[in-house]
Formats: sequence, structure tokens, C-alpha cells
Amino acid sequence: MKATKIKENIYWVGAVDWNVRNFHGYLTQRGTTYNAYLIIDKKITLIDTVKPIYAGEMIKRISSIIEPSKIDYIVSNHVEMDHSGALPSIMEVAKNAQIIASPKGVKGLKSHYGDFWNYKAVNTGDSINTGELNMSFILTPMVHWPDNMITYVPEEKLLFSNDGLGQHLASSERFDDEFPLDIIMEEAKKYYANIVLPYSRQVKKELEIISGLDLNMIAPSHGIIWRSNINKILDGYKKWSTNNTKEKAIIIYDTMWGSTEIMANAIKEVFDDNGIHTSMRNLENHHMSDIMTELIDAKYICVGSPTLNSTMMPSVAGFLTYMSGLAPIGRKALSFGSYGWGGKTVDDINKYFEKSGFDIILSKKIKYIPDNNDLDTLKSELNDTILK
Ligand code: FEO
Repeated sequence: MKATKIKENIYWVGAVDWNVRNFHGYLTQRGTTYNAYLIIDKKITLIDTVKPIYAGEMIKRISSIIEPSKIDYIVSNHVEMDHSGALPSIMEVAKNAQIIASPKGVKGLKSHYGDFWNYKAVNTGDSINTGELNMSFILTPMVHWPDNMITYVPEEKLLFSNDGLGQHLASSERFDDEFPLDIIMEEAKKYYANIVLPYSRQVKKELEIISGLDLNMIAPSHGIIWRSNINKILDGYKKWSTNNTKEKAIIIYDTMWGSTEIMANAIKEVFDDNGIHTSMRNLENHHMSDIMTELIDAKYICVGSPTLNSTMMPSVAGFLTYMSGLAPIGRKALSFGSYGWGGKTVDDINKYFEKSGFDIILSKKIKYIPDNNDLDTLKSELNDTILK
């Protein structure tokens, strides 16, 4: 277990989680990393820690550079346990270390681990000199917890950006010029869509602050470190945080006996005929976190379910709950589904759309199996709505 040098006297000492596939509902199909960093200066600093089960791995990497008891500061940019979870283990060996966090971070850490350690709360504009280097702190609340902050080392033009600008991506490589860039960007977009999206307003503020920093490296808390493509990830965040949509439709549905899928195909035909890019996403085969990545810039969100036990299918309810929590805004929405009796499923779907503030352009239910007349009517009504 060796540390990886990322700059003179600065090391990655985190952990690679090759096997995690479910990050509280987010399909992490390429695993992830928990990035911790060690700064060797007159005073020694650890930036963030790792998920608790990887504490031993982190301590071994630290030990490959210095004796862990020599750590003076531990900067906790974020309380969530994938970054603070190894604090109890490292504090066992770095008994004199002071923990640096935002005021809400200090409160959060005390709530998680008790009030046993030496804390120092910092605010935006505060900095700590470690000898040759300075650590300057910037609070970034709600990107994506209230306690979040980022840490900038001006002498090294290095930003420790915590969750922001990260990706769930396990790899042996540490830098963006050592790994296929399209995969890093795909995972960064998925990370944005599934973690950061509700806080786009706060992201814009953070981007303004970052744009004023002199940078040649951004070291997030998950995934690959940016050093050759800093502008590409910052441009990605600028684009994703605008909530601007494209002429693009996503048709998300589940089906029992194929009737709702027949409706989904008819809806697709209309979008195709209008030159609108369309994706079909049967929830039986597509993960909701992948759908969120596509949905980030889709103008039309179409959700269909047959009626099952007087309401929608659980897969559709699960997706709608997940989506509404991630709070995309300003979309045009369509609900649809087949039914046998009752048939209030489309109303239940619409309740989620209303909660999200979507503009509902059409709701369509069809009894049992759609016939050609039903489908022609559906297509004609949707066509009129799109052309309106
Ligand atoms: Fe990667 Fe919000 O923790």
C-alpha cells in the first residue's frame, strides 16, 4: 500500500473501492475511490479520510511516507462518512492532530463521533500556514451538504474540491491524462446528475469562486484528479448547472403485458417524426441513476405505467421518487399507461410532475390493449401539443 505523489511533498493516500455498485441507490458501475491527501510541510496535514472499512489502507499509505502520529492537522472538508468515516481510526494514532472544518462541519463531526477531539472551525477567507504552504478555506454550503467546504493551496495552485468535480470511478490511474477522458466525463456527468443536481444554484456560486483561483490541479474526493483537463470539467459543471434543456425526450416506463410499451412506442414515433432525439428506458432494464444522467438536459420527460393494484408499478414509483428528490426543473411532462379498471395511475404520476413544477403537456390512459384508433388519437394529440 503505497502513497501516490501528486505534487512535490503532496500525496494521494486514499482507497480504491473496486466493488461498490450501490451508493445509496446510485449504480456505481465502475466502483469509486475515497481520496485522502497528505501534505508534508513543517506542519503535516491530512486532507479528508476514507470510508471506515478502508481506514487501515489509508493508514498504510500514510505510513509509507511518514509516521501517522506526526500529523498536525486533519482538514475535514465534508462530514459524510465516505470522507470522515476513518477519523476515529486515524485519531487513534494521530492523537495530537487538530481537526479543521467549517462551523457546521465541526457540529456535524461532533454529532457523528462525539466531542472528544481538538477542533478548529474555519470560515471563508481563513487560512492556516503549514510552513512553506498555506491552506485557504472556502465554505461551499449545500454542495452538497450544509457543512461542505473546499481547501485551496495557492503556492501549489491546487484545489481540494471534495465531492464537487468528482466521479465514482475506480482505477489504478490517478490523473485525467492517464485514463480515457470520455469515461471520466461520463462518470462526472452521472455524479452531477445523481448527487449535485439539486444544488445547481450553489454550484454556480462555487464556480464563480473557483474561476478566481489560479489553478493547475483539482483534487476531488472521488475518482480521478484533474491536471490536464481542468477547463473541460469546469465547462461541464457550467453547462450542467444551467438547467438548460435540449430538444430531447426520454420515455421512461414499465409494462405488464406490453400495452404500456405499445403506447411508449407510439409516443416515440411522434418525437421521431418531429426530429426530436428520443431514448426509450424500460425500468426493467435501465437503472434510474443512468436515466438521471440522460435526463439532465432533456426537455421532455414521459413516464408510463400500467395500473397495478390501483396505482403505478413500484419500479415507476421508485424512479419518480428518486427523480423528484434530485429536483430537475423546467421540463415538459407526459404521463401514460394502460389500465383494466380504475386507471388512476396517470393521475398519480402527474402528482409527481406537479410537485416538480413540470408543465404537463399530455396525460393518456388506454383501456387494456391499445387499438389503432387509440394509438392514432394518442399520436395526434401529442403531435398537436409538441407543435403548439
Ligand atoms: Fe462523497 Fe458527500 O460524500
